[in-house]
Amino acid sequence: MVPFLDLKKINESFQPALGEAIARTVESGWYLLGNEVKEFEKEYASYIGTGHCVSCANGLDALTLIFRAYIEMGIMKPGDEVIVPGDTFIATFLAISECGLVPIAVDVDPVTLQIDINKMKEALTQKTRAVAIVHLYGRCSFAESVAEFCKKNDLKLIEDNAQAAGCKYTSTLRTGSLGDASGHSFYPGKNLGALGDGGAVTTNDAELARMIRTLAFYGSEKKYIFNYCGRNSRLDEIQAASLRVKLPRLDEDNERRREIARRFQAEIVNPEVTLPFPDGDKAGENNVFHLFPILAKNREQLQDSLSKKGIQTLIHYPVPPHLQRCYKGKIPVRFPLPVTEYIASHELSLPISPVMTDEEVRIVIDAINNPS
Ligand SMILES: Cc1ncc(COP(=O)(O)O)c(C=O)c1O
Repeated sequence: MVPFLDLKKINESFQPALGEAIARTVESGWYLLGNEVKEFEKEYASYIGTGHCVSCANGLDALTLIFRAYIEMGIMKPGDEVIVPGDTFIATFLAISECGLVPIAVDVDPVTLQIDINKMKEALTQKTRAVAIVHLYGRCSFAESVAEFCKKNDLKLIEDNAQAAGCKYTSTLRTGSLGDASGHSFYPGKNLGALGDGGAVTTNDAELARMIRTLAFYGSEKKYIFNYCGRNSRLDEIQAASLRVKLPRLDEDNERRREIARRFQAEIVNPEVTLPFPDGDKAGENNVFHLFPILAKNREQLQDSLSKKGIQTLIHYPVPPHLQRCYKGKIPVRFPLPVTEYIASHELSLPISPVMTDEEVRIVIDAINNPS
């Protein structure tokens, strides 16, 4: 049996420090807006390489708060457009639409599975105010050309870093520090996962960080004075204490993910399967492999054959956001999205995690090379 993700085993690997951090927090008598959160925000900002980190309740809130803050700051207004890749988890779209902004989906590149920069340029209109790139599956989606395009057209560049904690663009620059603001998720299954929900915004923009902190605290900066209609969105002390235990090992954990990915890439040989890096190992250098997405000619058959051998796989994602019922007739679909739709019907995510053993990796490789 090879589980898709063994969270129990992952969390056990942080013991006894994890249990001690939780016990310390319980004993402290202070559960919200305290020292653990303050310290985690400092440590995470320093790790990502930004001047500010504002923690919040989850990744969707992090992204939503960024757009809400830009609206309150007068930089965006409802009806404005945000360019977004068609292939992403729906939260990227929800953050935009929840603020009355309009997600404009563009197709992704068939090799990198990341936003297609040329398609992005075609989507520019008078109403475009931002581009939201998504470092999907743990692969960096940023390029200098994206930053130049945003700068030239006075667009904010937002990063959805939910799946890419620890990912690098260069040896010194991490995703989450490359655009104007970035949303992070600490959902338990993420590369940096809490023991419940959690999220954060990182940015170098002090004014934006302050507005996000205000909006996440009911819209208040001064006790019982509310200048904005905000929300309550915060990371609690127990989650922050847990994340502080896990953050120092994130690079090492990501290296183990890369090691497994390199084996998959080198040893899986099945003509019906496309691996994520046909251009070789190089493209995987900075990837943090939150997922290992393969494209399978006959996905259901392969998934079934792996399942019969006890190997769990998942699909990310079977229906892209623009085809979901919640958006039917509600958002414009201006461009054809054939690659996005191809991924939705062929993608299969293999098990990958820092606690996966070499033997489990071999079992997965053998099963894909000899499907029955
Ligand atoms: C790409 C992407 N964006 C946003 C989110 C939202 O994060 P959360 O689940 O913490 O709300 C997720 C994960 O769930 C995600 O994968």
